[in-house]
Amino acid sequence: MDYKELLILAEKAKENAYVPYSKFHVGAALLTDEGKIFTGCNVECASYGGTNCAERTAIFKAVSEGYKNFKAIAIASDLNDYTYPCGICRQVIIEFGLDIDIIVGDSNKEYKVYKASEMMPYSFTKEDLDS
Ligand code: THU
Repeated sequence: MDYKELLILAEKAKENAYVPYSKFHVGAALLTDEGKIFTGCNVECASYGGTNCAERTAIFKAVSEGYKNFKAIAIASDLNDYTYPCGICRQVIIEFGLDIDIIVGDSNKEYKVYKASEMMPYSFTKEDLDS
């Protein structure tokens, strides 16, 4: 599974976005170390705070199915420009590893790859709780 393919799966997942309020569709595709893929979309709710982003949907699906070692997550949205994960999703991504690749796609099927650690400098992690 190369990252271009992972991004195509994120684009596909976007189609299921439940976005009656923002109308902003986001899809994510998460690749586990075992090569399994979990996709997710954003799911909004009338109490706006109950909204779940696409990235967290994919991660929570994986964790709840017993997978928690992740290699990469690809993100696609309605933006023409690259779609970067929000702060809450970045925090959730680094919970599972600073080494995870984050693939941000744009509408021209171009993408960039960042390490989770690059997107979350000076982060608060589980190691801080151990000290
Ligand atoms: N959204 C995501 O799904 N992922 C992000 O990283 C950014 C924001 C969603 C949340 C909400 O449904 C909509 O995009 C507008 O913020």
